[in-house]
Amino acid sequence: MAGGRPLLASRNSSEISNERDLAEEDALLTGRPTKRRSDGRRSWSFWREVGLFVWAVVATAFVIVLAVVYQKSQDSKHSSPAPSGKRNLIFMVSDGMGPTSLSLTRSFMQFQNGAPWSEQLVIDQHLIGQSRTRSSSSLITDSAAGATAFSCATKSYNGAISVTPDHEPCGTVLEAAKKAGYMTGLVVTTRITDATPACFAAHVHQRGEEDRIAEQMVGDYPLGRMVDLMFGGGRCHFLPNSAEHSCRGDNKDVVELAKKNGFNYIGNRKAFDDLKGGSGLEFPMLGLFAETDIPYEIDRRNETDVYPSLHEMAEVALNALSEATRDSDKGFFLMIEGSRIDHAGHHNDPAAQVHEVLAYDKAMTSVLNFLKNDPTEGIMVSTSDHETGGLATARQLHVSYPEYVWFPAALANATHSAERLAAEYMGYFNNHPDTSARTAFVTASIEQGLGIFDHSEDEVSNIANDPASALYRYADMISRRSQSGWSTHGHSAADVNIYASDAQAAAPLVGNHENTEVGRFLKEYLGVDVDAVTSELKKKDKELKMLGEVGDGWMGKIPEEGQRLDGQTHLASYSGDFKKRGVEHGDACGCGH
Ligand SMILES: *[C@@H]1O[C@H](CO)[C@@H](O)[C@H](O)[C@H]1NC(C)=O
Ligand SMILES: *[C@@H]1O[C@H](CO)[C@@H](O)[C@H](O)[C@H]1NC(C)=O
Ligand SMILES: [Zn+2]
Repeated sequence: MAGGRPLLASRNSSEISNERDLAEEDALLTGRPTKRRSDGRRSWSFWREVGLFVWAVVATAFVIVLAVVYQKSQDSKHSSPAPSGKRNLIFMVSDGMGPTSLSLTRSFMQFQNGAPWSEQLVIDQHLIGQSRTRSSSSLITDSAAGATAFSCATKSYNGAISVTPDHEPCGTVLEAAKKAGYMTGLVVTTRITDATPACFAAHVHQRGEEDRIAEQMVGDYPLGRMVDLMFGGGRCHFLPNSAEHSCRGDNKDVVELAKKNGFNYIGNRKAFDDLKGGSGLEFPMLGLFAETDIPYEIDRRNETDVYPSLHEMAEVALNALSEATRDSDKGFFLMIEGSRIDHAGHHNDPAAQVHEVLAYDKAMTSVLNFLKNDPTEGIMVSTSDHETGGLATARQLHVSYPEYVWFPAALANATHSAERLAAEYMGYFNNHPDTSARTAFVTASIEQGLGIFDHSEDEVSNIANDPASALYRYADMISRRSQSGWSTHGHSAADVNIYASDAQAAAPLVGNHENTEVGRFLKEYLGVDVDAVTSELKKKDKELKMLGEVGDGWMGKIPEEGQRLDGQTHLASYSGDFKKRGVEHGDACGCGH
C-alpha cells in the first residue's frame, strides 16, 4: 500500500515536463480518465489527492487478497492428505543428475534447436524442491544408500541395498505396494541388478553382489516374486557362467529360475517390438536388452534396431500396467531410472551426458502424457540420488583470468561417447601393433567421433600409446573444448532437484528435504505398510538362520570394518589425502557408481 506514494511523491515538479504527463500517469493508476481544466492548480491537486486515496484503497485490497490466497495455499500444503481412491505412482530417478546437468543440457538444447534463451526443458517446468543426499556413512552418498533412502525411507551406509546400518533388511515401497495389491515395475537403462533398481526388490549387504540380486529380483528370496515387470540391461548376471556372455560367478541359470517363477522372458529388440506397445505384454515380464548397460543415448540413437530407448520402455510399461490394473481397485507403482546420466558424470563426458538428460526429459514427457490421458488418478515424482562429477558449466583453461563462456557447439559436434570410442580403440589396439596405424586410427576417431579438428600431437599420441586411459582422455578433450568443468570422477554432495507432475499432490516435497522424506512420500502416497514388510523380512531371516542357512546368509557378506564407514562415529575425516595418491588412471572407471 505504501508502494504508490513514494513513486509520485518523490517526483520533483521541475522534472515534470508538463501536467498532462502526470495526469495521464495518475489516470493509468486510478483508472480515471484525465480531465484537463483551464482553472489550474487547485483543482488539479484536489483530483490528485482523490486519485492517491483511491490508489491506496485498491492497493490495500489487493494485498489483502494476496495474503488470503497465500494463506489458503499454505493450508492445503500442510493438510493435503494422500488420495483415497485407486491411484498410480510413477517414481523417476535421474541417477547422478545435479542442477548443473540441467543448465548444461538446456543450453545445449537451445543451441541445437536454434531456440531462444527462454526455451525450457520439459523437466524445468515441474520443479518443486530439493533433496539433501548424504548417507549414514558419508557426506557423499553412493547410489545404493541413495536408493535405500527412497525405497525404505531410511538412511543407510554406502553400498547398502535396502538394509539398515545394523545389517537388518528393511521393507521397500515396491514390496509393500505389491503386498497391498498394486502391480509393480522397474525400467532402467543400466543393469537391472545395479544399485537403484536393486534397492526396490532385493536386500544385500553389499551392492557388488549382483548375481545374488538377480536371483532375488526374480523372486528367489524370502518374499517370493514382488516385481511384475522389469526392463533394462544386465543379462550377463542372469546367464550361467557356462554360457558365452555370462558374468556370473556360478553356474546358476537365473533366466530359467525366472521362468520357473512365472516370468515371460524377452532378450532382444524384436521381442520388445512384439509387445506391441504394451498390448501384447504378458505378466510377469522380464526384458533384458543388453549384456550389461544399454549404450549411452548418443550411441544408441544409431542402434535403434538393437536397443529400445528409455521412453519406449517407459511407454510400454505404462500402457501394460494400466491395462493390467484396469479392473483392479489398486493401480501400480513404477520406477523409471535414467541410469546412465550418472555414468556420463563418472566418465566426465559432457556430450554423452546431455543426450542422457534429453532422453530422460523425453521419458518424463511420456509419463506426463500418460498421466494426462489415463483415467486413474496418478502422480509422477522425480529426483536424483546424488550429483556425479562435480560438473560446472565453466572451466578455466589458463592462468589468465577466464572469459565468462562455455561452448555447447563443441558438444553438438560429438557423435559418439568417449566410452564407445575408447572401446573401439581398445579392440583396434589389441589387433594392430603398428604405431602409425594406431595414430591414424585415433586421429580419425577424434575427428569423426568427437568432431574435434584442432587436436594436438600429444592428445593423439597419449591415447594411441595408452588405450587404458583413452576413455578419460577422449572425454577430457571434449570437456576442454566446450569449457565444461569437472571436479571428480566420483559423486558430489550437491543437493539435487525434486520434480512432480502436480505440486499440490506432492506438497510434502515442496521445498528443501532430506532424501528419506522422498521415500516417506512414496509410501504415504500409496498408503502402504512398509513396516509390516520389514517385520516379515526379519522374521523370515531369523527362521533361515535357525534352519542353519549355509554360507554368508541370504543377504550375502557383511562388509568388513573399513570397507564400510559407519555413521556419525566413523564419518571420514581429513588425513592428508591430497598428497597420498599418484595420478595413475589404471582401470578407466573403477567407480562404484
Ligand atoms: C546418428 O543418429 C543421429 C540422430 O538420429 C543422426 O543425426 C546422425 O547423423 C547419426 N550418426 C551416425 C554416425 O550415423
Ligand atoms: C565442429 O566441426 C566443424 C566441422 O564440421 C569444425 O569446423 C568446428 O571447428 C568444430 N567445432 C568445434 C567446437 O570443435
Ligand atoms: Zn554413480
